[in-house]
Amino acid sequence: MMNSMEGKVIAVTGGAGGIGEATARMAYGQGASVVITDREASPVETMAKSLGDRAVGLAVDVTQRQDNERMVTAALEHFGRLDGVFLNAGIEGEVGPFESRSDAAWEKVFAVNIHGVRLGVEAALPALRKTGGGSIVITSSVAGLRGASGLSPYVSSKHAVVGMMRCLAAELGPEGIRVNTLNPGPVDNRMMRSIEDQANPGHGKEVQASFTARIPLGRYVTNEECAAMAVFLLSDAASGCNGDTYLVDGGYCA
Ligand SMILES: NC(=O)c1ccc[n+]([C@@H]2O[C@H](COP(=O)([O-])OP(=O)(O)OC[C@H]3O[C@@H](n4cnc5c(N)ncnc54)[C@H](O)[C@@H]3O)[C@@H](O)[C@H]2O)c1
Repeated sequence: MMNSMEGKVIAVTGGAGGIGEATARMAYGQGASVVITDREASPVETMAKSLGDRAVGLAVDVTQRQDNERMVTAALEHFGRLDGVFLNAGIEGEVGPFESRSDAAWEKVFAVNIHGVRLGVEAALPALRKTGGGSIVITSSVAGLRGASGLSPYVSSKHAVVGMMRCLAAELGPEGIRVNTLNPGPVDNRMMRSIEDQANPGHGKEVQASFTARIPLGRYVTNEECAAMAVFLLSDAASGCNGDTYLVDGGYCA
């Protein structure tokens, strides 16, 4: 559907990263106004400037309640409403055996990947209710649906947000607020390079080859392929979609 984002106001977390940036750009290109956020101000401010008047860049640490609230306030102040949030910020954490992860390593991943999403939802809800409905899209992963050796904190966190999404979909559906997860498979970007290099230091290419061998399409997916699904779920084209997981994984889970 062309211009399905026309007139929508969307806030994005992790907007300086691969999937977040591609989604902010695609939503903007289809007519949305976007509040693009990430930990540091400068990359998202630069991106917003390069896009134009319907984009604002803002530093938001998703683990901080007030930062999430500032993101929503920015949407209301600049664009007068909020129609959707793409709660996409996430970290891979450390790769290694289950029992070798420190308490701090577990807590850091959960702080961003679970509580960051929770705080984003809590901040967005009053504004979405005022709009009279909306769309919440949470970036989970194939790691939210399948286990993976060496990635326990990450996999646990990405399963947790699927559960959170299902509860929210049941609670908020009656108010016209749809909640879904985007579940990418391995994406050809920074995060996978980090996971590959941590899994076998100095031999990341071999790890990449073993992942690729398990993907029927024979390649990682792209940031843009993930963005296309995120934008669809944020748009009215997905008006019947609520409470589900949306894979963009080249067939990895098949
Ligand atoms: N890359 C993959 O293969 C893959 C696969 C499945 C799911 N995902 C998920 O997709 C999402 C986006 O990741 P990506 O692939 O674009 O990687 P990325 O590392 O390029 O992007 C993640 C972004 O989140 C930001 N971020 C991290 N902690 C933050 C915090 N506390 N507050 C605000 N922003 C913070 C980072 O600065 C970064 O820009 C993540 O949730 C990730 O877990 C990625």
